[in-house]
Amino acid sequence: MTASYEYETHNYDVVVVGAGGAGLRATLGMAEQGLRTACVTKVFPTRSHTVAAQGGIAASLSNMGPDHWQWHMYDTVKGSDWLGDTDAMEYLAREAPKAVYELEHYGVPFSRTEQGKIYQRPFGGHTTEFGEGPPVQRTCAAADRTGHAILHTLYGQSLKNNAEFYIEYFAIDLIMTDDGQCQGVLCWKLDDGTMHVFNAKMVVLATGGYGRAYFSATSAHTCTGDGGGMVARQGLPLQDMEFVQFHPTGIYGSGCLITEGARGEGGYLTNSEGERFMERYAPTYKDLASRDVVSRCMTIEIREGRGVGAEKDHIHLHLNHLPPETLAERLPGISESAKIFAGVDVNKEPIPVLPTVHYNMGGIPTNYWGEVLNADAANPERIQPGLMAVGEAGCASVHGANRLGSNSLIDLVVFGRAAAIKAAEVVDPKAPNMPTNTKSVDAAFARFDALRYAKGNVATAELRLEMQKTMQADAAVFRTDKTLAEGVTKMEAVAAKLDDLKVTDTSLVWNSDLMETLELTNLMPNAMATIVGAEARKESRGAHAHEDYPDRDDNEWRKHTLAKVDGPKVSLDYRPVHLDPLTTQDEGGIDLKKIAPKARVY
Ligand code: FUM
Repeated sequence: MTASYEYETHNYDVVVVGAGGAGLRATLGMAEQGLRTACVTKVFPTRSHTVAAQGGIAASLSNMGPDHWQWHMYDTVKGSDWLGDTDAMEYLAREAPKAVYELEHYGVPFSRTEQGKIYQRPFGGHTTEFGEGPPVQRTCAAADRTGHAILHTLYGQSLKNNAEFYIEYFAIDLIMTDDGQCQGVLCWKLDDGTMHVFNAKMVVLATGGYGRAYFSATSAHTCTGDGGGMVARQGLPLQDMEFVQFHPTGIYGSGCLITEGARGEGGYLTNSEGERFMERYAPTYKDLASRDVVSRCMTIEIREGRGVGAEKDHIHLHLNHLPPETLAERLPGISESAKIFAGVDVNKEPIPVLPTVHYNMGGIPTNYWGEVLNADAANPERIQPGLMAVGEAGCASVHGANRLGSNSLIDLVVFGRAAAIKAAEVVDPKAPNMPTNTKSVDAAFARFDALRYAKGNVATAELRLEMQKTMQADAAVFRTDKTLAEGVTKMEAVAAKLDDLKVTDTSLVWNSDLMETLELTNLMPNAMATIVGAEARKESRGAHAHEDYPDRDDNEWRKHTLAKVDGPKVSLDYRPVHLDPLTTQDEGGIDLKKIAPKARVY
């Protein structure tokens, strides 16, 4: 018997799912252009995970010294370990200054220089002179609460432009036409249990990453890869999921983020011998090498017995040599976090830190306009009608195999804005919405209902923990053939247990048991694509450090992984990396010789 639920229908030009930086920038851009825009979000907009972004947003403003968008592009290409798409990386670096000035004009309260310009700090992997010069101060900051400042500003601006918000609505599934177009999304209103169909000419997934597939992550508990889960259930691919970023400085124990801006302001790491070990591994940029490199070096120090603490299992981050006024003015948030989560006064003692899962380079494949690609090897650029993805949920691919710090906030606003520009071209506000495909709605309700009344043997929290521990152990900073093969086998068994879930609360109002179960069904396909993609990739590149294949292999592996997930089964395919820039050197673009692949050293 088909589950039967009543629902309310809403018609919009565009529905954005998610209200973090990318979702809000897309929402604002769509609304500014006169598209009837709704933003549905499972948390209050200013509680989205972007609020936790600390250190800043990269753009070559040159406020603190010489900088160029070409240098920013070069650093992004090198940071990506030559897996990023060249057109997307050019778009990011070129558009970044414009996007930051827009934020300034919208009202983001950036920190200021003596001259009243936007303050910029150094961040890992950001350099001058195409990697030949000293570190650059490119990361625009609002103290160490930059994401917070951006989110509040974008939410206010979206309201001013008459975007409509549906807050604490959980997106259950995409609604598709019989011929495979996306035409909306089915949502559950968490506070009263009502159901809602949002019909849209364009659905934009801005649902963030899936950090909570791991045991220890800087990501909020809400980062459950909901967009990736919905996409996978429609038989669409996920891209480059094996590339999971570990941030060097999560607080030991809690995983709470200590911004890379701390090292940007002069902080440094030491081992149990008090040695500033990064000088050994990255003689030029030291503690400001790219974060995948720093995370690996920290892990090596610990593995070789030079970790600190009773169990020698973490590293020290020193800020205690910095002037108290610098800490108070530039790093007030992390000074407080260190006190609360590590009991440390940063003026006096080092902070205990450990590489912690922080960011997903992979996601829903898109072009640099945010249009989702239903790609395979034969059709690498095929556009999926009616669907966009932006921010950490998407994979443009602008970060390739490793993202540079502060390139995430700029990704959110540049590509959120790009999606709005594209939507204004492809969405006709005068056209009527398509009638709801009730077959697709019924299928979504059937899945929801089966989970609501699931009477198996495994509690959601139990299965989630098993998944998180397996991913943490077997898809870690360093990977081997053995750990990955074992990880795949274990994860197949874990994913199969989704059919044996037990949900105890069947109510529809504030049912966190059911909501977390839906989230787990989203986390799982993301996790499966990650570990299977990692097992298949026989090289080391960016965040994928494979000890049995320590070198990057551009001949065989300079290609994007595509993963289709069906329960515990994952099928892999590949598509080429975009090698062509948007503009030639004659047109003022990048000199291709400058960004040609080479060894990645810092
Ligand atoms: O370290 C940080 O502030 C994080 C920034 C980022 O991931 O871009």
